[in-house]
Amino acid sequence: MSAQALGAGARMEPILPIPEPPTLDTRLVDLGARLFADARLSRDGSLSCASCHDLSHYGADGLAHPIGVDAAQGSLKTPTVYNSGLSFVQGWGGLASTLDSMVALAIESPASLGGGAGQSCWRAWDPTSGWWRISTR
Ligand code: HEC
Repeated sequence: MSAQALGAGARMEPILPIPEPPTLDTRLVDLGARLFADARLSRDGSLSCASCHDLSHYGADGLAHPIGVDAAQGSLKTPTVYNSGLSFVQGWGGLASTLDSMVALAIESPASLGGGAGQSCWRAWDPTSGWWRISTR
């Protein structure tokens, strides 16, 4: 149920009900799911987003310190990605202000996917068509 449906009182609350999911293009949802699980986004092809954000494990890895490429150990616990698009900032300390910039950081960060192949994949995004050209390796 939306905050609007609950009335003015609900809109004054600091924590609001999760809004109904938007209608999305299923082709983009499918592409996002494939990219999320694609290890080609990491520099050495060893990790994907799903390695740390395991969607069957509450969107996180359950480790005290996540392991990135080259066994780089992260200093912060992996947060869930469930509903992270609704957060007003991303990361424990507000590392990124938007979900898009958080995803770019995840691809480029040495503590996560390590950059390299991921960066070339990132640059292959075609804003005109709105599609990715997956061209790594
Ligand atoms: C090596 C483990 C690891 C990998 C791989 C990884 N992440 Fe993360 N992710 C983290 C950690 C740790 C944080 C918290 C970072 C911080 O707060 O400084 C995080 C934070 C996030 C957040 C913010 C969540 C929140 O609730 O604040 C999003 C969104 C996210 N990652 C998406 C991704 C995506 C998309 C990918 C793949 C492109 C990815 N991550 C790959 C460990 C990882």
